[in-house]
Amino acid sequence: MAYLQDPLVKPVTIHTLQKLKAQGEKFTCVALYDAPMAAMAEQTGVETVLVGDSLGMTVLGYDSTLPVTMEHMLYHVEAVARGNKKSLILGDMPFMSYATVELAMHNAMRIMQAGAHMVKMEGGQWLAPTVTMLAERGIPVCAHLGLTPQSVNKLGGFKVQGRTQKQAQTLLNDAQALAQAGADLLVLECVPSELAKQISEAVATPVIGIGAGKDTDAQVLVVNDILGLTPKPPKFSKNFLVEAGDIAGALTQYVGDVKAGIFPAAEHGFE
Ligand code: KIV
Repeated sequence: MAYLQDPLVKPVTIHTLQKLKAQGEKFTCVALYDAPMAAMAEQTGVETVLVGDSLGMTVLGYDSTLPVTMEHMLYHVEAVARGNKKSLILGDMPFMSYATVELAMHNAMRIMQAGAHMVKMEGGQWLAPTVTMLAERGIPVCAHLGLTPQSVNKLGGFKVQGRTQKQAQTLLNDAQALAQAGADLLVLECVPSELAKQISEAVATPVIGIGAGKDTDAQVLVVNDILGLTPKPPKFSKNFLVEAGDIAGALTQYVGDVKAGIFPAAEHGFE
């Protein structure tokens, strides 16, 4: 029986993730958007699922995450929460839904009431007061750093971040400030593997990587990439369906390969 399916195994909480980090055990996250896939993830032992605003591209056919609305997010968070009772569910806050602390509080409340256990927001030190405000009011926050897709126009494209010494130092400072502000998880997207290792070691908060090498505390992939549904898959992703043959097998292999330190390999990271 898969780990999370065991009736004796309790739902994953932030304490589970802190304990896994403290023990040096890797955990997994899958970005997914509907009830059947959420149920499958639960059966295959995925500790955390992310209802990502990547759904703008993977499900809704947009070119970026910018058109995603609160209504889109609520619809998909509700569906995922109905399908999965054991994984910890992260709900993305869409573009501009947390532009002020007041907006963030109102919209985070809605994402939590839809069934998420934590909200995810993109940004560096400027986000720290929002993180503290939400944390003090009982809403756990995952802060997303590095390549932050909602800022694609400001970043000038979907590019690796933290490649210069100055940028790397800023990212490290951001991670420490957000951890200090009360963030319960950090996501690092598309940053050099060595920098991701340094940041993961510098903070007690569990760090989930995507395109950030093998040394973060956890990994996240988008389900479409795991299942080979992306026409031009990113360098950091892997199609697990090819070897596994079916969806449950692909998710199980992803989980197993992350825990065994097999995925990501060096070729999935950035220097
Ligand atoms: O929206 C999303 O799916 C994400 C992950 C890629 C981390 O933010």
